[in-house]
Amino acid sequence: MKLIFLGPPGAGKGTQAEKVSEHYGIAHISTGEMLRREIREETPLGKAAKGYIDRGELVPDEVIIGMVKNRIQEADCSQGYLFDGFPRTIAQADALAAISPIDMVINIDVPAERLIERISGRRMCTGCGTGYHASMYDKDACEKCGSPLFIRDDDKPETVRNRIAVYERQTQPLITYYEAKGLLKTVDGDRTPEAVRADILALTEKLV
Ligand code: AP5
Ligand code: MG
Repeated sequence: MKLIFLGPPGAGKGTQAEKVSEHYGIAHISTGEMLRREIREETPLGKAAKGYIDRGELVPDEVIIGMVKNRIQEADCSQGYLFDGFPRTIAQADALAAISPIDMVINIDVPAERLIERISGRRMCTGCGTGYHASMYDKDACEKCGSPLFIRDDDKPETVRNRIAVYERQTQPLITYYEAKGLLKTVDGDRTPEAVRADILALTEKLV
């Protein structure tokens, strides 16, 4: 099964992708997580990407496409994969179409006013990358691996506003792109994580 989760920053792509990939035993490919790991490890790619991420801009297409091409060759992708935060531009979507078929694109729809509220409460695990929201989880350590939680550098309000504007300009056009290919399904993401997940599983069960 090969899926894409599309949606603005804070829509819940990561939250849903973590559980849905586990449910189907497919790889969860978050380009944002991959980039943050490169930054933590201070690799050349991480150093080149950091400025873009800190400003809330997109990392250049060729960097992302190269990273994804390598990632889908890895062993855990043999049963399929779920892209979270990729593709983000028409150029990335065209490049993906040339290297891998996709079964379904799930567009997680959340009103803009809810996004800031969600992102401002987000806490991430330094160890395994699991995401939490301060209103639902008030501990300082990850419940899965015990590592401390942190606030993402790009979750500052001014950067978040730019990320949302960048989404509207560069990524939102993918909704019509995938609609035209007959691959797009939209779920109402403005409900509890469990209700959103139930809808996603109902849509994707048919692909098994
Ligand atoms: P990336 O890491 O992909 O960030 P993003 O798209 O901005 O999305 P987020 O991770 O902020 O939101 P999410 O939808 O995953 O929401 P989450 O589940 O965490 O990208 C970061 C940067 O990397 C980009 O700005 C860019 O620079 C670069 N980059 C990455 N991919 C790239 C690409 N392909 N091309 C170019 N550049 C790229 O949820 C948010 C919060 O809400 C959490 O606290 C969560 O607990 C809570 N929450 C989730 N669901 C619900 C719910 N249903 N109800 C209430 N709260 C909820
Ligand atoms: Mg995410």
